[in-house]
Amino acid sequence: MPDARPRRTFAVISHPDAGKSTLTEALALHARAINEAGAVHGKGARRATVSDWMAMEKARGISITSAALQFVYRDHVVNLVDTPGHSDFSEDTYRVLSAVDSAVMLVDAGKGLEPQTLKLFRVCALRGIPVITVINKWDRPGLSALGLMDLIQEKIGLRPTPLTWPVGEAGDFRGVLDRRTGDFVKYTRTAGGATRAPEVRLAPGEVDEADAQVWSDAVEEHELLGLDEADHDQDGFLAGRTTPVMFASALQNFGVAQLLDLLLDLAPAPGATEGVDGTVRRVEDDFSAFVFKVQSGMNSAHRDRLAYARVVSGTFERGMVVTHAATGRPFATKFAQAVFGRETTSVETAEPGDIIGLVNANALRVGDTIYTGDPVEYPPVPTFAPEHFVTASAGDIGRYKQFRRGIEQLDQEGVVQVLRSDLRGDQNPVLAAVGPMQFEVVEDRMTHEFNAPIRFSRLDFQLARRTDAAGAEALAGMRGVEVLQRSDGTHLALFVDQWRAKVTARDNPDILLEALPAGG
Ligand code: G4P
Repeated sequence: MPDARPRRTFAVISHPDAGKSTLTEALALHARAINEAGAVHGKGARRATVSDWMAMEKARGISITSAALQFVYRDHVVNLVDTPGHSDFSEDTYRVLSAVDSAVMLVDAGKGLEPQTLKLFRVCALRGIPVITVINKWDRPGLSALGLMDLIQEKIGLRPTPLTWPVGEAGDFRGVLDRRTGDFVKYTRTAGGATRAPEVRLAPGEVDEADAQVWSDAVEEHELLGLDEADHDQDGFLAGRTTPVMFASALQNFGVAQLLDLLLDLAPAPGATEGVDGTVRRVEDDFSAFVFKVQSGMNSAHRDRLAYARVVSGTFERGMVVTHAATGRPFATKFAQAVFGRETTSVETAEPGDIIGLVNANALRVGDTIYTGDPVEYPPVPTFAPEHFVTASAGDIGRYKQFRRGIEQLDQEGVVQVLRSDLRGDQNPVLAAVGPMQFEVVEDRMTHEFNAPIRFSRLDFQLARRTDAAGAEALAGMRGVEVLQRSDGTHLALFVDQWRAKVTARDNPDILLEALPAGG
């Protein structure tokens, strides 16, 4: 039976420490079937539960894959797609954003817009993903609310349109003014933030004497915002010109229900999606999905490979035979598992917006489309401009075959970009990464999974530009540049520095040298 409940699929983008894990847990707390933030109290235990989604799944009976958390709120099914949390940047993080319809930008009130938030925001902008801004940690001293609005406008170029406005400055959080109704949503502290914080709604006339001064300050600023064209604009939000803003304390569970309401009321539902040939698949059409993440090596006992796909159209039913667009071959999902739903194994269907995990999906690569009915193929998931380059060689020449196989596999999974050229030959592929941590992942997996020790040697290149075969020929032998070919066929010209790239482009206007989407 198809599940007709509407969907919202989103991700949280933030700088480490802004409170993403805390917010994730707080969101789950508000989901149906969850009344308390687990039996565990105290920071240490609380934190452990937060970071371990699988543990959370067991404890709460909500569904989590390592890729997404699914829960019911009001009459909606909400999918929160996880963005890898480490401080370094890899392409994984970007790809995840191809699977969501909106993003929540979590900002630490004390720190403002931090570098990783900005990087992730740029990816959202590039992909046209509407962004809701949550100013977190308002219970702690921080920047002024108006100052934060200026920062948003200045640093990301979106017009902030606050839906709530804080009553009390950062560190003196009394509640928020709901700018749509004019009500005072009063914030009540709960011990440790472990239970759902009661939100008391008061009409302006009912505000306590104790809050009168901060309330009138908030009203004044709210009126000022109204004059400044800072009222919510749904078209502007969906078109990526404005960002609704709200104030919260994830730790105290305040503002979290407001955020869920906002996601349901304003964020876009899964919609029609265009294939590479321009044909449009509507959500109610036949089943189709695209792979946005491939993971393997989770179980060292056997070669497992899990492909995470976002359902674009139709109903996925476990056991259905789909077509793999890249090869035209049938792909039998009877060997696959839908690892989502209330119970990992009991839910057998998925709807547009949901994330499915397909096991033993050896043929599936990141960006691949699977479908039933009329053929469809979705545009490739973008790759980003690499900024770190190494040559790789087999640490043990006797295991060269395993080395090659490993590199090929990691290339297919998109763990790093693999570049080659006739000049360099196949023995020493060049690996290119957006963030250096990608090389650590390669090293670890080559050693443990493929039993093929690997050695890196750093290359002195700093940036890459896209060129073509003619460009490759013209650039050959020039100083400070080398052209290599990526496994998807793209020619990349690597430059030693920005200056060399500029000079080369200036002196050779006929050579194609195109910037790639910036990873950072
Ligand atoms: P992350 O996943 O984005 O990296 O952040 P995480 O949730 O782990 O939160 C980082 C720290 O910020 C945690 O403190 C957490 O308790 C705190 N925090 C999150 N949301 C809020 C909030 O709304 N208000 C306040 N006051 N704190 C919040 P921690 O790691 O235990 O360290 P510390 O900050 O206490 O030193």
